[in-house]
Amino acid sequence: MRKVGVLTGGGDCPGLNAVIQGIVVRAAQYGYEVYGVEDGYKGLLYGKARKLTTRDVEDIYWIGGTILGTSRKNPAKSEAELKTVVENFKKLGLDALITIGGDDTLGAAKKLYDAGIPVVGIPKTIDNDLPLTDYSIGFWTAVETIADALGKLHTTAKSHKRVMIAEIMGRYSGWLTLMGGIAGGAHIILIPEKPVDIDEVCRIIKERRERGEPYTLIAVAEGVTIPTTGELVTASTERDEFGHIRLGGVSKVLEEEIKKRTGEEVRSVVLGHIQRGGIPSAYDRVLGIRLGFKAVDLVKEGKYGYVIVLRGMDILPVKIEEVVGTIRKVPIELHEYTNVFTGLSTTHRS
Ligand code: F6P
Repeated sequence: MRKVGVLTGGGDCPGLNAVIQGIVVRAAQYGYEVYGVEDGYKGLLYGKARKLTTRDVEDIYWIGGTILGTSRKNPAKSEAELKTVVENFKKLGLDALITIGGDDTLGAAKKLYDAGIPVVGIPKTIDNDLPLTDYSIGFWTAVETIADALGKLHTTAKSHKRVMIAEIMGRYSGWLTLMGGIAGGAHIILIPEKPVDIDEVCRIIKERRERGEPYTLIAVAEGVTIPTTGELVTASTERDEFGHIRLGGVSKVLEEEIKKRTGEEVRSVVLGHIQRGGIPSAYDRVLGIRLGFKAVDLVKEGKYGYVIVLRGMDILPVKIEEVVGTIRKVPIELHEYTNVFTGLSTTHRS
């Protein structure tokens, strides 16, 4: 009988529990035992894992977050910690480890694999910035949440004839802002992949007012650089164990700038962690269960050092090193869709 460990690392998201349920159910079909490692890689560092039965995971697929807990712990921060993690993996009697996470978690999984731990990775991040997978777990639920929030901001912006700016997560990629912005009907969408032209933003706002639409909804990605300084706006100077700084505040900077230039009433709102919470969409539930099944299938085949990705209708394994270390940016041509809401004058400009 095989003992399979599973952990969730990095920021949580809706759909993780669906993956866990998929893993436990598939493992039971093969007669394997599953151990849930607590709080991401912290659990491996401190040897904390509990047995998960099919009973334990019954109906968790529709619950947000992760029943295992998570953390931004880097297990390879030092040689000593990496050694402890490998020792604990052995002490727990595990034969394989399934790690569910984004670039940091999967990058660390690669290091564990190189250190001798048989790993299978599952891509998860609302940012959708992992290469080689169409979508990662949690992304579409977050898009739904953003679209819903933008819809609400739309009505209040319209009533008050204001410019309303919504700041959206995603770190250095604009997937959430672009897809959420399109789905939520934002008139202007600002993403890190396209330099912000503040004159153009103000021109659109003015044109809308002149056309009898005296309100504008702007979706801005937290990772957009400020045109005046060329810098990112950060919420704190602290870095996590993977070296990431916490982004936040770009909407407030834009609020001041737009107010100054246009004389409009401007308000900004940071959607924040609301985007990561809540019940997973039907899409993320189904994707999660499918990824969970496939991960255990790879364990059965003894195929380690792979990440499972979604390509069209298929769930496929790709080498872990092909997925980690690169941020997938939004192809710039997708930004063209924002013209649907910006207005005809922009669409027809040559
Ligand atoms: O990586 C996912 C993400 O949600 C980013 O979009 C965001 O910048 C970051 O996590 C926030 O992290 P934390 O939960 O540590 O504040």
